[in-house]
Amino acid sequence: MRILLTGCDGQVGCEISRKAPGYGFDVIATDIGNLDITDIDAIRRLQGKHQAEIFINAAAYTAVDKAESEQQLAHDVNALGAKNLATVARECNLPILHISTDYIFSGNASTPYKDDSEPDPQGVYGVTKLAGERLVAQSNARHLTLRTSWVFGIDGQNFVKTMLRLGSEKDEVSVVADQFGSPTYAGHIATALLRLTEQYQQQGDLPWGNYNFCDNDTTTWHLFATEIMRMGQAQGLLTKLPVVHPIRTEDYPTPATRPLYSVLDCSLFEQTFPDIGISSWESGLREMIGVLAGEEK
Ligand SMILES: NC(=O)c1ccc[n+]([C@@H]2O[C@H](COP(=O)([O-])OP(=O)(O)OC[C@H]3O[C@@H](n4cnc5c(N)ncnc54)[C@H](OP(=O)(O)O)[C@@H]3O)[C@@H](O)[C@H]2O)c1
Repeated sequence: MRILLTGCDGQVGCEISRKAPGYGFDVIATDIGNLDITDIDAIRRLQGKHQAEIFINAAAYTAVDKAESEQQLAHDVNALGAKNLATVARECNLPILHISTDYIFSGNASTPYKDDSEPDPQGVYGVTKLAGERLVAQSNARHLTLRTSWVFGIDGQNFVKTMLRLGSEKDEVSVVADQFGSPTYAGHIATALLRLTEQYQQQGDLPWGNYNFCDNDTTTWHLFATEIMRMGQAQGLLTKLPVVHPIRTEDYPTPATRPLYSVLDCSLFEQTFPDIGISSWESGLREMIGVLAGEEK
């Protein structure tokens, strides 16, 4: 099976590239340097040359705050770029696996968002990702979109790495404690996408559509940070355990509004793909910190 992967230098893309050979898949790994997804003719040319059998889109504009002032670029990548990929896949009679976000929801709920809950994004990033989901669905009936949240992983910059850096520099840090969601390990998203590719390879079909997909369990940034520091110290990445103070969202203003409650109900994914299932963010964090600790030795 040959995969055309976009965003291969990102958190999820790197994990897909690393894990794909273990499934016997051949990956045409691209990122903006060799394939800009806003250029549909470039996608057509690359596909013409490599003849991939499935597309996986891990490329995105993910700078949530910067998107507020770079609306056009965020839209070009997250909406039009995603549409371009879905369109070229359809032209070649191929499916596309895509990734979306909890930011398509308002964050004002008090119970987990279902796959068919009404979207109401509060910022530019969420608006462009919602447009991307919809354009992918309109452009290619054989699409499967995983909506995920709070992604962290070994590659690229993310909350875990920021906390470990702060933990090595400071005795105390303050972290928002009134936003609820589910951290999701990039390695778990990559595994799910590769298992879906494997199922498609074996069955020639998939139950297409949009699925909420995030790790168990719900937490806050404050509790997540506390666990990062604890595991970081246990694995020798931190020499001391910093104090993590809880603060309110209003004490940490950001250009883009953060959803206060972005918990996703992933039961549809679990029922539809029981063999793939959902993992815990704790296991992902343990794996990531183990890898980082191994690199330091
Ligand atoms: N990060 C999160 O917390 C989070 C949460 C929920 C959902 N998601 C979704 O999960 C998916 C993967 O996220 P991630 O965290 O792995 O993202 P990431 O680390 O930011 O990686 C995205 C990659 O796409 C590249 N890219 C940007 N514009 C491109 C273009 N025009 N053509 C080709 N490639 C381009 C980026 O390059 P540059 O770095 O050079 O821009 C980067 O290498 C995305 O769909 C994202 O929206 C992420």
